[in-house]
Amino acid sequence: MAIKDRKRIDDHYSQKARKEGFPARSVYKLEEVDQKHKLLKPGQQVLDLGCAPGSWSLYAAGKVGLKGRVVGIDITPVPATFPPQVTILEADLLDADKALVTDLAPFDLVLSDMAPKTMGRREVDQARSLELCQMAWDWAQSLLKVGGHFLFKIFQSQEGDDFIRGLASHFDKIIRIKPKATRSGSLEIFVLAYKKSHN
Ligand SMILES: C[S@@+](CC[C@H](N)C(=O)[O-])C[C@H]1O[C@@H](n2cnc3c(N)ncnc32)[C@H](O)[C@@H]1O
Repeated sequence: MAIKDRKRIDDHYSQKARKEGFPARSVYKLEEVDQKHKLLKPGQQVLDLGCAPGSWSLYAAGKVGLKGRVVGIDITPVPATFPPQVTILEADLLDADKALVTDLAPFDLVLSDMAPKTMGRREVDQARSLELCQMAWDWAQSLLKVGGHFLFKIFQSQEGDDFIRGLASHFDKIIRIKPKATRSGSLEIFVLAYKKSHN
């Protein structure tokens, strides 16, 4: 695709997010996966790792409704205003204790859109993304219900592929997704680990 066309698509998603009241265009990545795989339902408990500036938590809150709960955690403050079913916590997840959320567990869905601050050095960025995914899986492994789903973002790499393959024995299916709202040239893909099969 020509750079000009790709830029038009990027601008389209940013404008749409502003118009629809979401703080980031990344909401359309979650929306695309949710529409296709029907992940979010009324009454669910959702854990959103790396939630700032808050688009995924806001979207999830709309889907789970007032009888559900969304817990978002980020290392940076989250300035958005949320409905009452959302709880936002500030913590460095690489250093945080799961006890922070055990009262609210188990979860139907664990989301991680976490990304490291990119250094412009491909191998370093890939390794730091993998570290965040491994930590997110450590949380999902203890906090996700049997039958629940784990959706995470990863910068593609050989080691990342090995990690994704390692998840297969814990879930019914592993689905790799490149949503339309992903910026051109991005290393990121999303992985939907569908239906946790055991604890
Ligand atoms: C792409 S943004 C998430 C966007 C979010 N899904 C939304 O739709 O608004 C990635 C987030 O991961 C967070 N993050 C990265 N490393 C983290 C860590 N160690 N602990 C907590 N959050 C982290 C960043 O602060 C950043 O806000």
